[in-house]
Amino acid sequence: MKPLAFEKNDDLFFKILEIINFLNSEKKKRVGKLKEEYEDYFNLSNFTQWNLNSDKNRIEEERALQVAQCTKILDDEKNSINCIINLNHIGKFVTNLGEKISPTDLEDGVRVCVDRGKYQIQFSLPPKIDSQVKIMAIEEKPSVTYNEIGGCEKQILSIREIVEYPLLYPRRFSSLGIDPPKGVLMFGPPGTGKTLVAKAVANRSNSCFIRVICSELLQKYIGEGARLVRELFNFSRQKNSCIIFFDELDAIGGTRFDDGAGGDNEVQRTMLEIVNQLDGFDQRGNIKVLMATNRPDIIDPALMRPGRLDRKVEFSLPDLQGRSRILKIHSKNMKHDLNIRFELLSRLCPDSTGADLKGICTEAGLFAIRRNHKLVLEEDFLEAINKVIKGYSKFNATPAYLKFN
Ligand SMILES: Nc1ncnc2c1ncn2[C@@H]1O[C@H](COP(=O)(O)OP(=O)(O)OP(=O)(O)O)[C@@H](O)[C@H]1O
Ligand SMILES: [Mg+2]
Repeated sequence: MKPLAFEKNDDLFFKILEIINFLNSEKKKRVGKLKEEYEDYFNLSNFTQWNLNSDKNRIEEERALQVAQCTKILDDEKNSINCIINLNHIGKFVTNLGEKISPTDLEDGVRVCVDRGKYQIQFSLPPKIDSQVKIMAIEEKPSVTYNEIGGCEKQILSIREIVEYPLLYPRRFSSLGIDPPKGVLMFGPPGTGKTLVAKAVANRSNSCFIRVICSELLQKYIGEGARLVRELFNFSRQKNSCIIFFDELDAIGGTRFDDGAGGDNEVQRTMLEIVNQLDGFDQRGNIKVLMATNRPDIIDPALMRPGRLDRKVEFSLPDLQGRSRILKIHSKNMKHDLNIRFELLSRLCPDSTGADLKGICTEAGLFAIRRNHKLVLEEDFLEAINKVIKGYSKFNATPAYLKFN
């Protein structure tokens, strides 16, 4: 329909129509050109070739893979390999291998990835290690060396014999036909240097050092503690050589008893898993176990029997020589009078532990600061001995522990 305004003016009407047509065709051309540029830029195929349905199917197939456990490998005569896999909460399936995995990568019990459609095995996964276990492995070595430990020479020697020699000279043991001991139990009053020696061992050895504080193994749920212990040993087996140090063993190593309520069962289960793992690994293996406690009387006898923890090393109070050496070690970095008679000082503090002696050094420094001295003098040490040994005797639990001697 021609609008009324153009009744008498055909020419103008056609001209305007022409202009509109021209503009339309120009617009189409531009849109076409833009479309081509857009397709080029994103590397898309022509719109007409798109098949949205098949794309949707393919995306479905490429979804994340599922983790399963390969429980058994079935090898049949036609050389095609099938596996039984176990998918948690879903069930068991018999599947075959995908293209990317070779049969040699598979073992019974290994973790694998399967697709969601046919549950075909795509690749195998490394064993599962709890992140809590990984954190326990010490990466930065402690700075303590054997030189910084006073007294304890015998103890250090007997620990090095068990921990370092089998790793350094395995031939000597095999040629003699001896199985090197698996572990050492360190016991003694608090503050006598058990943890310190373990730190020095970690510093000296090139093997992986795992420090476990036993109370960390106690978890909220039943069976979790035992699982952590299993994963800990699995993790250490992957290493070339490994030292595991269980500190404060009394948290879990207590003698088994029945309290009627079943409350302590979880603690006992965790301890029994350690016993089990100690039996499990090869004696000439590369895993050594150190344990430290200050209550050897309550540790379960099963844990301590020879064959599990063969050697028990006692850390007793340092003797006169040891005490003066410990005082010297802890005052090494202090600015002190060169004429201090450490032997005399150590005579004044009988029955004191390494930790007490360290406390004396710190207190002596504080006395010097209080008096505005630039050097720590012998009298500062004497006052510190008075304060720490006599003043703090109420807190000293050492006599109670000395009954093991
Ligand atoms: N023989 C020693 N030589 C030098 N310093 C020592 C010695 N024994 C103890 N010390 C000092 O005492 C501190 C505490 O020692 P450590 O942590 O080894 O005690 P522990 O035997 O593990 O006690 P606990 O049974 O309470 O864990 C150390 O940091 C160190 O400074
Ligand atoms: Mg300790």
